[in-house]
Amino acid sequence: MLKIVSVVGARPQFIKAAAVSRVLRSTEGVKEILVHTGQHYDANMSDVFFEELEIPRPDYNLGIGSGTHGAQTGKMLEAIEKVLLEEKPDWVLVYGDTNSTLAGALAAVKLHIPVAHVEAGLRSFNRHMPEEINRVLTDHASDLLFAPTKTAVMNLRHEGIPEERIKLVGDVMYDAALFYGKMAEGQSQILNKLGLKPKEYILATVHRAENTDDPVRLKVIFDALCEIAGEIKVVLPLHPRTREALIKSGMYDKVASAICLTEPVGYLDMVMLEKNARLIATDSGGVQKEAFFYRVPCVTLREETEWVELVELGWNILLNPVFCDIVTVIENILEQFNKMDLNAYKQSSAAKKIIAYLIDDVI
Ligand code: UD1
Ligand code: UDP
Repeated sequence: MLKIVSVVGARPQFIKAAAVSRVLRSTEGVKEILVHTGQHYDANMSDVFFEELEIPRPDYNLGIGSGTHGAQTGKMLEAIEKVLLEEKPDWVLVYGDTNSTLAGALAAVKLHIPVAHVEAGLRSFNRHMPEEINRVLTDHASDLLFAPTKTAVMNLRHEGIPEERIKLVGDVMYDAALFYGKMAEGQSQILNKLGLKPKEYILATVHRAENTDDPVRLKVIFDALCEIAGEIKVVLPLHPRTREALIKSGMYDKVASAICLTEPVGYLDMVMLEKNARLIATDSGGVQKEAFFYRVPCVTLREETEWVELVELGWNILLNPVFCDIVTVIENILEQFNKMDLNAYKQSSAAKKIIAYLIDDVI
């Protein structure tokens, strides 16, 4: 029996792990032990995904919670190590680029347990982002690197990662979008609940540290979204980090009166909000891609992105909040966005390929 410990902890990891776990658990001869670090813990940042996406209950919930990078990652490292010593798995599977990813990879590699990284090779080349450090270190600690795109493969080659460790498998978030996208259509009531008509609103999300922790950027972004809300409804499921930043900066009341703020929503509601939006404005990695999956024009409220193909194809527009006129760009796009039909991320069955490689590598 091949034993795999999967480490998750933050919202996007639940979605990625849901796609992989579904296939993993239906594969004979493979046993998954699920570890939740507790990095995200509010019901609408964690439980809702386990329930809706039918992710099995974690075998271990480490309950680490929030903290500074060092404290949070350090506590996770210690707690994950204990689990690994107890479980002695054949593989540790980590996802994406959060502190939970790095802690999982580091705990495993120090115990000489093979590590597989899903969403390997993404780079923003901005070392100020905590995610960039997590990605680079996790990739270099990993034995199998599951790259979602050709660009990711090239990035890993340039960093000298041995070719045999790199596997181009496609994007697990596309697997999730295909599988749960259909479910969302049947189950989500969010449009009715918020009184939204298809293509008559903009969907926005903001949560990156670089935007929330910089008062100038936070103000520029939310001033722009409030101004746009005068022309077309703006719906924004609010990440707890951003809620705190808006309250701290004294902007919350103004924003709440201009924009339709909601609590973070479950994945099925999010899919419906994305599919039916006229435009998406976001600093999220996952949401940028989902905009493309559902062919919704997207502006990314950042200076750079790891998902460069979408920008190169003209599908996603990077908007440095400080130097660009967000309102004018969005108005222009709303007027004349040229729909294209492109296939950059449309490689499905990433989850199946990942599991085949894990089995192959051990046999
Ligand atoms: C983390 C990831 C980021 C990812 C994001 C997905 C790191 C360094 N960052 O950022 O890459 O894009 O998750 O959403 O790992 N909080 C709550 N309730 C929760 C979780 C967080 O109130 O359930 C608040 C706390 O005040 C906390 C803050 O949000 O301090 C930030 O949470 P944290 O997990 O440290 O980082 P994220 O910004 O969520
Ligand atoms: N998401 C969600 N509810 C929300 C906001 C986002 O289900 O209120 C989903 C979104 O559809 C995507 C993932 O969470 O699949 C992206 O996570 P997030 O933006 O938190 O992190 P990132 O992808 O930037 O790391």
